[in-house]
Amino acid sequence: MAEVVFVDSEAAAGTLAAASIRSLILQKPDAVLGLATGSTPLSVYAALAASLTADPIDVSQVRGFALDEYVGLPADHPESYRSVITRDAVVPLGLNPANIRVPNGDPATIRTAGLDYEAAIVAAGGVDVQILGIGRTGHVGFNEPGSSFASLTRIKTLTEKTRMDNARFFPSIDDVPIHCMTQGLGTILRARHLILLAFGAEKADAIAAAVEGPVTSSKPGSVIQLHPHVTVIVDEAAASKL
Ligand code: GLP
Repeated sequence: MAEVVFVDSEAAAGTLAAASIRSLILQKPDAVLGLATGSTPLSVYAALAASLTADPIDVSQVRGFALDEYVGLPADHPESYRSVITRDAVVPLGLNPANIRVPNGDPATIRTAGLDYEAAIVAAGGVDVQILGIGRTGHVGFNEPGSSFASLTRIKTLTEKTRMDNARFFPSIDDVPIHCMTQGLGTILRARHLILLAFGAEKADAIAAAVEGPVTSSKPGSVIQLHPHVTVIVDEAAASKL
């Protein structure tokens, strides 16, 4: 059963998650962070950055693995998740870019990129804490409904709903890639601690399904019910259907 924490603001959620990550880094200076993109984790990165500025600790050995990447966007495209993670997390937190991995979305290497990424996570000793948002379709990472709970990093096709949600970052929906490389639900399950955050009424159905619904691949977020150590941090609106 996931621990569900109710907060009254995104900032409060960020402070809470950041405190947990900070104490992990203090215990394990080469901690492995699972980094998520999207709007949801921004409060976590902002709170952790503020805490590191106010009271610095050594983060030079911290390692990170991003959850997912678009297929077919050049790595230096401003909306590639490599760019987004660099902008939102690596730079503000002062992490060493050489310690941060993002799945390879280059179509030329798509056959081997998943296995390579899984091998890199294993070689790093696994992810200590995985930050997660959740999509309106209930996707985590880019594991859309129907994704196997045993899945590992692989290419997936984005749903129209997810492409529409992410069109806000692109000139038009036609510019949103159709495919992605994403850690699988099985990959996510291997992380030692999951912190799932959600804010706003549009996430209420996905949160209710993830936390309390049947465990089913048609609701990918419900995979958290199979994990022994999950913290769900939600505001009132996102919690409204629990
Ligand atoms: C994106 C990402 C997910 C993210 C989700 C929600 O497409 N691939 O990792 O959790 O959709 O995004 P947001 O936090 O912006 O609502």
